[in-house]
Amino acid sequence: MNDVRMEKLEKAAAVFTERLPKPPTVALVLGSGLADAFGLPEDGTRIPWTEIPGFPLPTVLGHSGGFWAGEIGGKQVLIQRGRTHYYEGYSMDEVVFATRLFALLGIERLIMTNATGAINYDYSTGDLVLISDHINMLGVNPLRGSNLDRFGPRFPDMSATYSPRLRALAKDAAKAEKITLKEGVYVAALGPSYETPAEIRAFRSMGADLVGMSTVPEVIVAAHAGMEVLGISCATNLAAGVDPDASLSHAEVIETTERVGERMQRLLHAVIDRL
Ligand code: HPA
Repeated sequence: MNDVRMEKLEKAAAVFTERLPKPPTVALVLGSGLADAFGLPEDGTRIPWTEIPGFPLPTVLGHSGGFWAGEIGGKQVLIQRGRTHYYEGYSMDEVVFATRLFALLGIERLIMTNATGAINYDYSTGDLVLISDHINMLGVNPLRGSNLDRFGPRFPDMSATYSPRLRALAKDAAKAEKITLKEGVYVAALGPSYETPAEIRAFRSMGADLVGMSTVPEVIVAAHAGMEVLGISCATNLAAGVDPDASLSHAEVIETTERVGERMQRLLHAVIDRL
């Protein structure tokens, strides 16, 4: 039985196979503010969201963008600039549309970036943090509903979702670039309101180091499809209550990503070089 979701994805994938001179092997998702900070090579192919049939259009500030495909570090890389979030009102199928597209295009490695609030007291604003694991507090799972057998099994294993191999490689890359790279657990909260200090204390006691409003749905879908995943987070602010005198704002998130953009870009290039 062909699922309507597969039909939509296949139509969208056809745009990529028609327009891209070479098939991409690596996908890179640039989140909040980071898309603008990541300079793209002159050549390459740009595909705006609007030219992809069925593609959900993101709404939030700092998330404008589309796809860019081309060569970086000798690899064919497909970059997703900006993403859709569940809090925007999209269905889970829409939130993970791009990730499934990557799987359909045969991409085997996925690098996710995002902006997060730092829960761990050892983190500072502007830190880059390797995601070692996640906690899903969204209350939903993108794999709910009939299984898309084309991608993977009904009950996918999540034991080593954030690839130990890619994490080791990212640590080597950071060392070579003299970039401090911390490591921690990401908890996904629904948003769009930031968390309360009580929620942050609860997340800390659960073992979370970072909090964000994205990434987890895409990573679950990538794991389902057997992709190797690497997640790098930019701690853009201290999570609610970490500094009892501070308040949180989207402006601070964007400001930090702009400040850290160059370092993130250098790390990502060093990672891609080593893939
Ligand atoms: N909470 C949730 N999402 C975020 C935060 C935060 O503090 N900072 C950036 N994204």
